[in-house]
Amino acid sequence: MSFKPDLNWSDVTPKSQFMNRRQLIKGAAGAVALGSIGGAAHARGKYAVEGVDEVNSLSDITNYNNFYEFGTGKEDPARNAHTLTTDPWTVKIDGLVDRPGDYDLADILKRVNIEERIYRFRCVEAWSMVIPWNGFELNQLLNHAGIQSGAKYVAFETLLRPEEMVGQRSRTLDWPYREGLRLDEAMNPLTLMATGLYGEDLPNQNGAPLRLVVPWKYGFKSIKSIVRITLTDTQPDTSWNMTNAREYGFYSNVNPEVDHPRWSQASERKIGGGLFSSRQDTLMMNGYSEYVDSMYAGMDLRANF
Ligand code: MTE
Repeated sequence: MSFKPDLNWSDVTPKSQFMNRRQLIKGAAGAVALGSIGGAAHARGKYAVEGVDEVNSLSDITNYNNFYEFGTGKEDPARNAHTLTTDPWTVKIDGLVDRPGDYDLADILKRVNIEERIYRFRCVEAWSMVIPWNGFELNQLLNHAGIQSGAKYVAFETLLRPEEMVGQRSRTLDWPYREGLRLDEAMNPLTLMATGLYGEDLPNQNGAPLRLVVPWKYGFKSIKSIVRITLTDTQPDTSWNMTNAREYGFYSNVNPEVDHPRWSQASERKIGGGLFSSRQDTLMMNGYSEYVDSMYAGMDLRANF
């Protein structure tokens, strides 16, 4: 796979508008400016969205969330996540690495290259958004830690702090939230550790201060508020798979041809489209096939859903 740089606002917006983009984004004029982004991105063939897509507003992205640590309602995280202390923040990196340890996030951020990536985001519940993330490729952090030859998977854990995370006082899930990737998936240049949105720090409800973004997989793989990363030689347990393995596979690649047992995955409802918006077709690998298909060559994607 040849690596292409991501889409930046400056690629698709005239410089003067780019300089003012925060004001533009906040105002009505912003919607018009943003409307052109998808088309330009498609023409440039970058990691981005096709012409039909518009970037979601900051308000959509921060008020319609799944973050069960703060409640199961879509508006609960926006209401409850302000209680989370995100600074200081430590990430334990352990398992099959040369340099295990407790890494201060501030130190990590000095060593990585932060960029902006505009990605589609497709939840397993069949809603979607287009989100302008800021973050760094996970492969940078794993390379700093030194990957040992026996490592085959990467496991992730969210903070366990019921005093600050009201949803953790109920057993809606077996806390802490856990996720995992195969090592090649974790090293794929698309796999992002997000630290921000719209050029600002990540809001707590979106997984501050550090969350995973795996754009070709259903959203539940994109684990929030990460405090531990473990390299292992065995497939790790993951929260939704442990809860219901028949409904939520380890891979969970976006696939319009493999339905969830209780609903179709062939189409999705784009958040923010308004009352009369129609559903749009879901794309194989959420539109990222050219960057990820080679990792699954020869695999049965129905059996490995
Ligand atoms: N991470 C944690 N720790 N807890 C969660 O409940 N929900 C997942 C994922 N990461 C979740 C999580 C699900 S189901 C989705 S769709 C996305 O976060 C939602 O991300 P967003 O709220 O930023 O859109």
